[in-house]
Amino acid sequence: MTMTMPTLGFCVALAAVAGVAGVHAQQQPGAKPDHMQHRFDDPAKFAKSFDDPARDGWQMPARVIDALGLKGGMAVADIGAGTGYFSMRLAKVSPALTVYAVDIEPAMVDHLKHRAAGEQLANVIPTLAAASSPKLPKPVDVVLIVDTYHHVGDRVAYFRNLRQSLTPSGRVAIVDFRKDAPDGPPAEFRFTVEQIEAEMKAAGYQLEARHDFLPRQHFLIFR
Ligand SMILES: C[S@@+](CC[C@H](N)C(=O)[O-])C[C@H]1O[C@@H](n2cnc3c(N)ncnc32)[C@H](O)[C@@H]1O
Repeated sequence: MTMTMPTLGFCVALAAVAGVAGVHAQQQPGAKPDHMQHRFDDPAKFAKSFDDPARDGWQMPARVIDALGLKGGMAVADIGAGTGYFSMRLAKVSPALTVYAVDIEPAMVDHLKHRAAGEQLANVIPTLAAASSPKLPKPVDVVLIVDTYHHVGDRVAYFRNLRQSLTPSGRVAIVDFRKDAPDGPPAEFRFTVEQIEAEMKAAGYQLEARHDFLPRQHFLIFR
């Protein structure tokens, strides 16, 4: 399998640990993997890149969150929350916002619990997911999925099932790396807008908004 080695930055730790053997899919032998499988079971290590203050310059979290149009009383799910870079910022929009910080790694969920408690954010609900389902306890108004879309396998089925966890006007916001980003996952796990749109359409969604202000990532909102 071809691997591109990213330059210094966000995905260095990720690519170094993933290696050739770490990137595979639960598919037929010989089939091209449809997602990048990788463990994120060491929150302290990943926090160094995920929560690096230098990330704010290209991740622009305030602008991303502003574009989501959140209001108190809404529920939002940050799927693939990692160490909580977005979850904690989302929770600070309003104490009346419920933020499900969803991850498949038990160690990340523990980290999210400690971080939310430390930052006194009672509206963050760390939630342990399965790879095929976020296991949300109730439908949410917005799903945000940052740098995690490429880690989800069988995405059409995943997002089709996710519709039952959305309110009738619910939206799904996807932020993921462009092909030409200086940093990020290997080339085969960077998708074009057309690829993402085709998968989401097959899962039953329509593109509602496309934001082009992020220098490294697509930012697409589906309904
Ligand atoms: C590259 S990290 C991104 C973390 C965070 N969104 C950020 O931007 O800092 C991907 C995270 O998604 C989680 N993840 C991978 N597959 C997932 C799935 N199917 N459902 C929920 N979380 C998943 C991983 O455990 C990891 O914490």
